[in-house]
Amino acid sequence: MAYYVTTPIYYVNAEPHLGHAYSTMAADVLARHMRQRGEDVFFLTGTDEHGEPVANAAEREGISPQELADRNAAKFEALMPIIDATNDFFIRTSDPRHAEQVATIMQRVYDNGWVSKGTYEGWYCPRCADFKTERELGPGNTCPIHEIPLEKEREENWFFRLSAFQERLEELYEGQPDFVVPDFRRNEAVSFIEQGLEDVSLSRPKLKWGMPLPWDPEQRMYVWFDALLNYYTALGFAREGEDLSERYWPASLHVMAKDILKFHAVIWPALCWAAGLEPPRRMAIHGFLLMGEKKMSKSLGNVLDPFAVIERFGADALRFYLFREVSFGGDGSISTAGFEARYETELANDYGNLASRVLAMVERYRDGTVPLGAVDATLSEDFEGVVERFSELLDRAELTQALEVAWVLVRRLNRFVEETRPWELAKDEADPARLDEVLYNLVEGLRVTTLLLVPYLPATSETLLAALREEGRGLAELGSRPGGQKVERVSPLFPKID
Ligand code: MSP
Repeated sequence: MAYYVTTPIYYVNAEPHLGHAYSTMAADVLARHMRQRGEDVFFLTGTDEHGEPVANAAEREGISPQELADRNAAKFEALMPIIDATNDFFIRTSDPRHAEQVATIMQRVYDNGWVSKGTYEGWYCPRCADFKTERELGPGNTCPIHEIPLEKEREENWFFRLSAFQERLEELYEGQPDFVVPDFRRNEAVSFIEQGLEDVSLSRPKLKWGMPLPWDPEQRMYVWFDALLNYYTALGFAREGEDLSERYWPASLHVMAKDILKFHAVIWPALCWAAGLEPPRRMAIHGFLLMGEKKMSKSLGNVLDPFAVIERFGADALRFYLFREVSFGGDGSISTAGFEARYETELANDYGNLASRVLAMVERYRDGTVPLGAVDATLSEDFEGVVERFSELLDRAELTQALEVAWVLVRRLNRFVEETRPWELAKDEADPARLDEVLYNLVEGLRVTTLLLVPYLPATSETLLAALREEGRGLAELGSRPGGQKVERVSPLFPKID
């Protein structure tokens, strides 16, 4: 089955930071897991290059918006292999092929009668490129996200007739209770819809850096319309000479943080209907990574540089830390001290040492050949049904809980080592069959657990699975292996931090 997963496309007004890496790694965990399930996966990420935030930042630097876009888009694109993201394409909205399709689609929306002319007055945040309602305003008419004072603006422009989709949206949420996960985010979307939808402004007369409206080129398109459409347009040109939209549309899952929930969960399905497209199937909303109490963001100047962290500890450690530390869906604080603690206790000790010990014992006691063995009854209880549980959690984008399922196994295997004490069994070899059985079960347990962990720890799992001589990466063929294979020792998977 086709599985199409996306990240938000990121603004190029600044360089990538850990928040962007976080959403992208989350989508990557799901893409990798779905590939392990044998699905036909397409994974999209990219950059959102139009709009006021980008134009303003370029002006501050005294360069053209396109120059700024080119410079920062290159940094976002370079981030992907560094965080080990396996995106199949990287879309840039300044790509003329995107512009061409956006014009066609928006003309269709206009022709279908979903656009009207009007006057807009409201509190406008140039950083969000969005008008805020009175209820959303922070103290002193400030932006609740950027904490900057906002101006009231009034303009003549075109409106997208969102209000006309009120009922259809209500029906969508009734008919598909898991359209937005987790539930509490879905409830936010539903309550926003239930308060009554207003039409949304579709164009800006003042803006210079944006796409002209096909039916009124004096006006530039509000960046969100051009941006949301990326999920669809990318399929038209991601593969030279091929249109992938038949194969992958509608998208299976959009991943994003709560800041852009309204655009995706309310406006986007309506825009799809207006354009004659099927809306996406699901969206997974996560919270904010916080440093102390505050959202980590470039404009607040409190960012953790993903490039620096990865250079020191590797991408696996960062992926692991973020999905383990911050319960996926909610907000969560992160810190260097917290990172180092989890690195040492969980990655280096619980998992890395387990792997080294097991492989070393097979070498020392059985010359590197995994004994032929039978599954230990007490262990098999813990492994029973684990792939199904893990997969069900990831179907609901419960990344932290799925990781916990795998980590329970890591801890269980460590306990099994302590309970069976293979080094004592090896001492007098009074019961060689029991030592065989213990070693066999440890290798099997490590193999199964590591296969589950592939999406979270792509590089480490590769090293370990190679040492375990496991060639398969799929979950379908994960069932037990008889033993008898030669394995190799590994150097520490997570070396000590100096
Ligand atoms: N360009 C729009 C999205 C258009 S999608 C059609 C945009 N860009 S953004 O650069 O501001 O990226 C916002 C997204 O980046 C968030 O929704 C989230 O995915 C990610 N994050 C940015 N900062 C973050 C945190 N501090 N914590 C978690 N995610 C963060 O909005």
